[in-house]
Amino acid sequence: MMDLAHSLSATGRRLNESVIRRMGSVIPTQGNLVSFAHGFPDSRLFPWSELGEITAGLLSGVDSTTLQYGEMRGYKPLIESILTILAARGITASYEEVIITCGAQQGVDLAARLLVDPGDVVLMELPTYPGAIASFVSLQATIAGVEQDDDGISLEDLETVWRRQQANGRPVKLLYLVPNFQNPSGRLLSLEKRKYLVDWAERHSTVIIEDDPYGSLYFEGSATGEETRPICADGRECVIYLGSFSKMLAPGLRIGWMLAPAPIVRRLEAAKMAADLNSGMLSQRIVDAAIRRGVIGRLAPTLRDVYRRKRDAMEQTLRHELGHLLRWSTPKGGFFLWVTLPSGCTDRSLLGRAIEQRVIFVTGSAFYVDGGGHNKIRLSFSAPSHSQIRRGITRLAAALAAELRHSV
Ligand SMILES: Cc1ncc(COP(=O)(O)O)c(C=O)c1O
Repeated sequence: MMDLAHSLSATGRRLNESVIRRMGSVIPTQGNLVSFAHGFPDSRLFPWSELGEITAGLLSGVDSTTLQYGEMRGYKPLIESILTILAARGITASYEEVIITCGAQQGVDLAARLLVDPGDVVLMELPTYPGAIASFVSLQATIAGVEQDDDGISLEDLETVWRRQQANGRPVKLLYLVPNFQNPSGRLLSLEKRKYLVDWAERHSTVIIEDDPYGSLYFEGSATGEETRPICADGRECVIYLGSFSKMLAPGLRIGWMLAPAPIVRRLEAAKMAADLNSGMLSQRIVDAAIRRGVIGRLAPTLRDVYRRKRDAMEQTLRHELGHLLRWSTPKGGFFLWVTLPSGCTDRSLLGRAIEQRVIFVTGSAFYVDGGGHNKIRLSFSAPSHSQIRRGITRLAAALAAELRHSV
């Protein structure tokens, strides 16, 4: 019998389970497990009844285009609605500059396809979002890591890494950044650095891919909307901006968008055609109706409040149970707590013990392109309830105690 594994391309061979594991999607099938692994929104917060009403109206059959193929660029009224969202974020854009994607993840992938040839140098933060690592790895990019400071990417290290690549005759093609409440570190890039990066990208002819699924999830009292101002608002020429409705509405709809200069968007349309022709019309129309009826606008303050309280609950329990052993900084928004382990304890070994205690997280090393991060773990506070958060941290404390006993 033919073994298809022998027919795999170089890219196909690179795409194995470890890529999925990076995303935290390999879950042991155990009941009563508390997951801090998945960066999922809390499904209790989806606006079920409003989405139900909208969907029922759309499926009434009055407008047959709802279930048809659509334009590759996306459903025009949705793009127009997105232009108003962009305007509220300080970005004046036109219809020709936006394309609808299947989530921000497809945005990363399409941008990478357009810009990256095998061997091209892509700069990513240490740590960074594994879904983007997967896209760049699959295109055989050469990935170089850049350190972070408390206020986002280190400008000193950026310059050092850039110079090193230049000196080796490998010009840097692009820089991938998650400026707002980064996945996994939760860090918020300072406004000064945002301004500097626009100038840096122009000087070095480097494209910035700005991936911003968490920008609206700033927590009152910790950060403001102004502090999440997109880099793109001050540098349209050198930035490809990615947005998403996954965190502010529902990820199951799989709707996001890209903003780029019009000639780039025309090429992205061709890449989108090759990938999936167009994003689902029903989902696009649901999202558009949800924006126009004010559903997303009304929901946003609740999301900020609920996730802020979950962050507080996780931090409080961590401080109480493990404050003497673990270190972390308080994230000012988003979904994640990025935790440093005590010496003598590594992420993978701790995960093994945590699974025995029925709690899971993502190992820190999954977020590093340079083999680092073994003294880190990412805890997502977004999906579990307050009681699950407390139970999960108590289990984590038991796992850590066992790990430390063993490593002595
Ligand atoms: C930084 C980042 N980019 C992109 C995504 C993918 O989002 P979407 O559901 O919009 O594809 C995620 C999801 O967790 C993320 O954290």
